Amino acid sequence: MTWLITGGAGYIGGHVVRHLLDAGERVAVLDDLSTGDAGRLPAEVPLVKGSTLDRAAVTAAIREHGVSGILHFAAKKQVGESVEQPFLYYRENMTGLQTVLEAAAAEGVRRFLFSSSASVYGMPDVDLVTESTPCAPMNPYGETKLAGEWLVRSAGRAYGIATASLRYFNVAGAGAPELADTGVFNLVPMVFQRITGGRAPMVFGDDYPTPDGTCVRDYIHIADVASAHVAAARRLAADPSGNTSLTLNIGRGEGVSVREMLALIGEVTGLDTTPGIAPRRPGDPARVVASAEAIRRELDWHARYDVTEMIASAWEGWRHHHR
Ligand code: WQD
Repeated sequence: MTWLITGGAGYIGGHVVRHLLDAGERVAVLDDLSTGDAGRLPAEVPLVKGSTLDRAAVTAAIREHGVSGILHFAAKKQVGESVEQPFLYYRENMTGLQTVLEAAAAEGVRRFLFSSSASVYGMPDVDLVTESTPCAPMNPYGETKLAGEWLVRSAGRAYGIATASLRYFNVAGAGAPELADTGVFNLVPMVFQRITGGRAPMVFGDDYPTPDGTCVRDYIHIADVASAHVAAARRLAADPSGNTSLTLNIGRGEGVSVREMLALIGEVTGLDTTPGIAPRRPGDPARVVASAEAIRRELDWHARYDVTEMIASAWEGWRHHHR
């Protein structure tokens, strides 16, 4: 079968394309290249340059490539920007998703994977976040991911589409230097930017109720995120009924603090990561760590890479893009 990967020229989609190819699957990519980079795609992968908001373009891509499953990554993903521009986020993330789902249902596509996020949980007050921890997103970005999950599940039920929503925790690293994330929106690249510019990295708050006072997150290697998608895609492909509806965390189940990350970044890069302390960033939860039990049980999947491997591969990617 052929999978259509929307947003396949992006950081996460680009990695999933490689992993699906390595697993022997056929893929085609739909990407408007607004933030994606066609250079992430191997030459043999067909790229349809178009928007998920363009129903005719999505339909044409499905027909032209004989698509029978979709992995939907095309979306906006900056929390701060979503607060400033909620219309943009609802349009790109919700209307874009609905357009792809409508085309999929009309064309008889019977498998659909949705790129969700731990941001659906908001400020979870639990040690390990399970899939039944109440969802309470704190910003429009997280809202579009939660509402997106609802739409995916409802469309799946109404049209007999097997679906999976995968909630990523803090994704880091690169499967190959040229696939690295080029945005500077998350902890690891933000620290790289400061220390390579001769500035101290910043810790956003060191008075949290955590062991060292800094926020704790569940960092997960992008190659592990990609392998989880391959496992989920295969699971959906094996469902002839179209009844499958999965909602799963993708995490390691292990918390790492900002201070611990800085120490490891110092070891990997050989640069000084002694931080400056800034005030808390509004909306940052003290601790968000996944329970990785459900995905282990459902897909027999677990993470392979540790935090040092994430940082080392991210650092190679950073140097590749900043030569
Ligand atoms: C991690 C920790 C910061 C930079 C966000 C989204 C989430 C998901 C991933 C998906 C926090 C601290 C950061 C710095 C710091 N997005 N920090 N100094 O906020 O956990 O999650 O990205 O698409 O939905 O909310 O990730 O990498 O921004 O921050 O101290 O220079 O590092 O305060 O505790 P976050 P992050």
